[in-house]
Amino acid sequence: MKKLIAGNWKMNGSLAANEALLDALAQGLTVAPACEVAVCVPAPYLAQLRALKSTRAALSAVGLGAQDVSAHASGAYTGEVSAAMLKDLGCRYVIVGHSERRQYHGETDVLVADKAKAALAAGITPVVCIGETLAEREAGHTEEVVKRQLAAVIHTNGHCISEIVVAYEPVWAIGTGKTASPEEAQAVHAVLRAQLKAATDQSARVKILYGGSMNAANAALLLAQGDIDGGLIGGAALKAQDFLTIIAAAHA
Ligand code: PGA
Repeated sequence: MKKLIAGNWKMNGSLAANEALLDALAQGLTVAPACEVAVCVPAPYLAQLRALKSTRAALSAVGLGAQDVSAHASGAYTGEVSAAMLKDLGCRYVIVGHSERRQYHGETDVLVADKAKAALAAGITPVVCIGETLAEREAGHTEEVVKRQLAAVIHTNGHCISEIVVAYEPVWAIGTGKTASPEEAQAVHAVLRAQLKAATDQSARVKILYGGSMNAANAALLLAQGDIDGGLIGGAALKAQDFLTIIAAAHA
């Protein structure tokens, strides 16, 4: 399966900075990458990114993604953005359940599962983030936590589960410069793969990304692990050269 390298820009960017970053990526992507590439940008910039992509041939294969979606279809939900709106703006992906949303916005396993369902119903691939905190890891609960988080999504989405992307992001590794070792990450990915296998006979199609301080220096080793099918990249996705290096490290 082709790997997926997805940038998570988080709450960064401006009209000018986005254009400069996209130009630098276009310059570096003159040869079609061996992996799938996506950028998940703040919702107000989706239309800009779509327009920038349409005028730069080197970026035609880069998928557009959002960072969150409402679990509701439409109506009186002030401030929320629906999956249909994201689809309208050309989104192929949406991140759901990022640990920053679980932590700062109280998102529960059930809400994250409902958001994944809303995305799937609109024809958008949800990139479902799961991962343990440092306290949970130190208490030996990593496996139990990630399995619980994924189980909620499986429960709500049934056979559609083969259409999702999973991103394993240990919370202690996000934005900290502390990456899970390739072996630590692979061990969790193998657990998730087995869980998906038990849920669907299409599990081989489900990409399991690693995220958490993946960068230009450590990407190749992480991506060489048998069950790591790509990366969800935060900080390093804001630096064109680093993001391009990670993309180049993601061959089949
Ligand atoms: P990071 O973020 O690469 O900056 O650690 C990853 C993420 O939060 O998706």
